[in-house]
Amino acid sequence: NPLMIPLNNGTSIPQVGLGVYQTPDGETTVNAVRAALQAGYRHIDTAALYGNEVSVGQGVRESGVAREDVFVTTKLWNDDIRAGKTAEAFQASLDRLNLGYVDLYLIHWPAEGWQQAWRDMEKLYQQGVVKAIGVSNFQQHHLEELMSFATVKPVVDQIEESPRFANQELTDFCLKNDIAVEAWSPLGGTGGNLLQDPVLAQVAAEVGKSPAQVVIRWFIQRGVVVLPKSTHKERIKQNFDVFDFELSDEQMAKVSSLETGVRPGADPDNFNF
Ligand code: A2P
Repeated sequence: NPLMIPLNNGTSIPQVGLGVYQTPDGETTVNAVRAALQAGYRHIDTAALYGNEVSVGQGVRESGVAREDVFVTTKLWNDDIRAGKTAEAFQASLDRLNLGYVDLYLIHWPAEGWQQAWRDMEKLYQQGVVKAIGVSNFQQHHLEELMSFATVKPVVDQIEESPRFANQELTDFCLKNDIAVEAWSPLGGTGGNLLQDPVLAQVAAEVGKSPAQVVIRWFIQRGVVVLPKSTHKERIKQNFDVFDFELSDEQMAKVSSLETGVRPGADPDNFNF
């Protein structure tokens, strides 16, 4: 059973979701979404940037799972933030998804103009076309600024996290402020070698699971929403088969010991896209 994490606006979010960054639009995305929903996932995380909202919507509609039982997130891209085109960009995402409404809409990065974008997203939220609003790649100082003027609090901050970069201070700040944390690139991202780490292999052998399942379980037990990406049906299934075992405190600490303090991805305070 997918664990649900309560959000600060009274809604809730399934703790394990399918990430579809770099999943090509068309059959690949349709099949991945369908496979995920058939495996028990009830949460798909996309973005306008990913270019696959049409196929995400198609996969959800063709899955046989009721719309209201699936949690769909999409995100406002930086160009639209800078251009002040939040309402137009949201409508375009809504049209591409063709699912009637969006469960969660996020500011993708704190691009210049994000403050106005937030005010515009508050209006969309009041209209009811999006059930919850939040942010992504916000640092503590962005969240503090946001909370100083927002009339609607963000329900989540979706940030880069993996065992090598747990982002624990920001995670603690969010949880203390009743903002849920979502992890992107939780398995170390495309082209990474995290899953080959011998420490993960050791813990995986102890619990009789794969390194990916150990990492996903580590996120679950830290109270973080985790969005593993795969285009392979067997891996999609495997990544959701994480509710029948637990990591001990010692095993949690072993996974946490992989921390490097080095951020693999883009710096939210200094990005150029
Ligand atoms: P693929 O899509 O070919 O399955 P992240 O979620 O951190 O972005 O990492 C996703 C990367 O890890 C992708 O390259 C994905 O490849 C791979 N991956 C996802 N699930 C598994 C798994 N269970 N075992 C091995 N590799 C996986």
